[in-house]
Amino acid sequence: VHPALRTYEPHDRQALHKLVRHPSLAPEFTRLLDSGELDDPLRHPHGDVLGAWLAVVAGAPVGFALVVGFTSPRSRWALSRIGVIEPYRRRRLGSALLARMLEHLQAPRAGPRPSELCMSAWDPNPAAGAFADRHGFRPFRIFWTMERQSGAAAEPRWPEGVEPRPWDGSETMLGDLTATSNRAFAGNAMSSAETLDGMRSMTRRPGFRPDGLLLAYRDGRCLGFSHNALHHDHGEVHSVGVAPEARGLGLGRALLRWGVGWLQRQPAAAVRLVVDGSNQSALALYRSEGFEVTRTRRIWERPLNDA
Ligand SMILES: CC(C)(COP(=O)(O)OP(=O)(O)OC[C@H]1O[C@@H](n2cnc3c(N)ncnc32)[C@H](O)[C@@H]1OP(=O)(O)O)[C@@H](O)C(=O)NCCC(=O)NCCS
Repeated sequence: VHPALRTYEPHDRQALHKLVRHPSLAPEFTRLLDSGELDDPLRHPHGDVLGAWLAVVAGAPVGFALVVGFTSPRSRWALSRIGVIEPYRRRRLGSALLARMLEHLQAPRAGPRPSELCMSAWDPNPAAGAFADRHGFRPFRIFWTMERQSGAAAEPRWPEGVEPRPWDGSETMLGDLTATSNRAFAGNAMSSAETLDGMRSMTRRPGFRPDGLLLAYRDGRCLGFSHNALHHDHGEVHSVGVAPEARGLGLGRALLRWGVGWLQRQPAAAVRLVVDGSNQSALALYRSEGFEVTRTRRIWERPLNDA
């Protein structure tokens, strides 16, 4: 039977959830159900869904493709997620899904067009690497998952004059968090600019823990934050950010320690975080606070205009 490609529809949600839990796709994708990215594939927590497709055999999906657009300081870029279940691999289905995605991305559209397309996979994944290579993607970045080894976190030591304030849900703090996050990550190629609305919906997602979010102020000005999250099987230092003018004071370390301490007081088995492998200063900080690399995630990228 030849699989047919069609656009993903809202009523396909349960079938897509079942598909990504297939043993051949689960290692790559089930965490995206947890993170909210694939829970409803038409609504991404941080980006704009540009398109979603299914490959279907006798009414049941055997493959999917999703493409999400982001705006980073560097560019407008898009991230693809493509999965084909094991019995249907090496039949050009992944390629057909990608071709459909590229055609869609290159069609005239309202609004800014992404200039690069990324894909990513956990190491080792020779199929994804070969697929990327075959389709003109080049290695772009490595992300590391780090896990904190045993032992209680040290107490945070706040730099002189810095006052930590627990998240209060106010519009004032929402504005402070959004602005500080954008300033802290402005130099990072892959982080997207946050909007007030995006941050607000992040704080309203089920599972958001207001007590896991802390902002640091000096003279009434927000200089940093520590945002921590609980997932079903682990706790995550989701993001730690320090404004450029407050770097080198020990604020990042204090915020990290506060987050690890908070996570360790929750019923979380492990404390993890994800860091961009090119972010040397963050990497050094995490290592010095007892984190070690446990998994590697590869990111590939290709330009979109010369397909
Ligand atoms: C990566 C993936 C989507 C490829 O889907 P697919 O339908 O099997 O891929 P295709 O048949 O279109 O392969 C296209 C080319 O990719 C390369 N390729 C794909 N799988 C490969 C493998 N296991 N070993 C070597 N090369 C491979 C080949 O060059 C292939 O062309 P060829 O068959 O003419 O040699 C699929 O393996 C998968 O779902 N993996 C798990 C999810 C994942 O890792 N996704 C990462 C991208 S988000």
